[in-house]
Amino acid sequence: MGQSSTERVTEYLEAQSQLDVLRFITCGSVDDGKSTLIGRMLYEAKLIFEDQVASLQAESKVSGTQGGDIDFALLVDGLAAEREQGITIDVAYRFFSTERRKFIVADTPGHEQYTRNMVTGASTADVAVILIDARQGVLTQTRRHSLICSVLGIRHVLLAVNKMDLVGYDQSTFQAIVDDYTQFAEALEFESITPIPLSALKGDNVVSASGEMAWFDGPTLISYLETVETKTALTDHPLRYPVQWVNRPNLDFRGFSGTVAAGQAKRGQSIRVLPSGETASIQDIVLFGESLEVAETDRAVTMTLDREVDVSRGSVIVASESPCEVADQFEVDLVWMDADPGYVSRGYLLQLATLQVTAQLTDIKYRLNVNTFEKLAATKLGMNDLAVVTVKTDRPIPFESYRDCPALGSFILIDRVSNQTVAAGMIRHALRRSTNIHHHKMAIDRETRERLNGHQGKVLWFTGLSGSGKSTIASALETRLHERGIRTYILDGDNVRHGLNSDLGFTDADRIENIRRVSEVAKLMVDAGLVVLTAFISPFRAEREMARALFESSQFVEVFVDAPLEVAEARDPKGLYKKARAGDIPNFTGIGSPYEPPEDPDIRLDAGTESVDALVEQILEQLDF
Ligand code: ADX
Repeated sequence: MGQSSTERVTEYLEAQSQLDVLRFITCGSVDDGKSTLIGRMLYEAKLIFEDQVASLQAESKVSGTQGGDIDFALLVDGLAAEREQGITIDVAYRFFSTERRKFIVADTPGHEQYTRNMVTGASTADVAVILIDARQGVLTQTRRHSLICSVLGIRHVLLAVNKMDLVGYDQSTFQAIVDDYTQFAEALEFESITPIPLSALKGDNVVSASGEMAWFDGPTLISYLETVETKTALTDHPLRYPVQWVNRPNLDFRGFSGTVAAGQAKRGQSIRVLPSGETASIQDIVLFGESLEVAETDRAVTMTLDREVDVSRGSVIVASESPCEVADQFEVDLVWMDADPGYVSRGYLLQLATLQVTAQLTDIKYRLNVNTFEKLAATKLGMNDLAVVTVKTDRPIPFESYRDCPALGSFILIDRVSNQTVAAGMIRHALRRSTNIHHHKMAIDRETRERLNGHQGKVLWFTGLSGSGKSTIASALETRLHERGIRTYILDGDNVRHGLNSDLGFTDADRIENIRRVSEVAKLMVDAGLVVLTAFISPFRAEREMARALFESSQFVEVFVDAPLEVAEARDPKGLYKKARAGDIPNFTGIGSPYEPPEDPDIRLDAGTESVDALVEQILEQLDF
């Protein structure tokens, strides 16, 4: 008796679900035959339906480049409707399977301006298939692709030397390319490099061994992909469980929901909650109302603990005997992904696993020339730059190195104003700089000083164009406050730039650092109980927000000194606008450098028309002194 078709389908699906999955990325450009290769694999895996083959054959005759043979590039490019453009854009994931394995291919464009797409594709890959055109050999882009794969932690490279048919299947050509590649790739520390000579077009060494290259005794492409080891699942790793949210439906239940990032969670296991370090035991693990003995890596569950401990979103529950590190300064590999440049000192949101904190780049150690691996000095990061930087978070966070545990070692940076993801980072290690520095609690604190002063400490943050009247208004206001017995101090751009900030100029990077330092000084002064008036152009929203974030909301008052550029320029108290128009000050605010007006200032002053006295009155009225 034969099986019914339902049985056959069930059996097939059953067999499929048992297969493990290999994720790989293909790196190369259109000319290397990347699309042809992927198309060939899909075709050989019999995943193209017959009618699709028929239409492909018809189309190959019309627009193909292979003179009537099937043009597999049309298949892949066609699937993503990117044909007209002639290049593949964005990351396309394709799925196929053989009898032995399921495959997920990340197909990313090869050009340098798509580095960020490639990073996305490479971040989850077990293997990189690096394509080389046998006629061209190792190219600059081959180096770039390999570097990115190495930084993203890919351990195995399949060096696919394609188009062997066009070099007469010549062994020495192949060998020369392999030698060349192996030599430069030494620095990248891949665990294995497996070279295979092939012709994606003719099918040589893709699925079956080529009759044309009897000299080659290595695996075919597919047999390699079917057998290469996948990234070891982190099952044997100590438990890492970042808490996504605290699940508290009623007073009797307090569970912690999340996904096991590494290791296993077992009922009864003793755990530690980081960063606090408190310990407890896992009481129960629940999934859809059922209680589990064990939750494996990648399982999304809810767990309960045997006692009350301080756990919140972003806490990481770890095996108590092998906790991960906790730190607030790191050296990381960073890929910049945004059109707006990345700057040292600017505040970003850093998201690592389920935790979001505020962070700054503290130093750009070097930017890599991704083509030559040369280390370059840099003051900012541009789109697609790959750099080694140091990062500081506003509080200590649990982490691991990317190499040991990608889930706790990778993070993204988010712009606080636009909410865009601007960078992806991989932690190398923590910096030991600050671990031995603690906050010392003093006997006399801000409240005590404020009582003595008879008023609160505050910062009035004046922002506006040069010549808008910030310093003049701040000075007039200070006189009035002083008369009322209020202790004040003015931090003024022109003055601070003679001392504390005399090393800074007017590049974007320097302005950001200028404001960072001034914010920190203002914070100290507010802590001293003073009313601080700051008068800086402070042209960027991001830094004004960073300044605000240092204070309690009642302590920070943003005052927008709003004078139109024409008015400020007509006043030109220091003759600087004139110089800027003459081209002598290339990045003068309002002319060669932007000013981002506050969207929602606490106080807006109409500084183009009102008198200084009137504006001072306005501030005094709006403030409760
Ligand atoms: S900020 O942009 O970093 O906030 P800051 O307020 O400290 O600037 O300094 C601005 C003052 O520096 C201006 O009032 C002006 O006197 C002087 N200055 C010199 N060069 C420039 C420039 N390129 N852009 C703006 N101001 C400049």
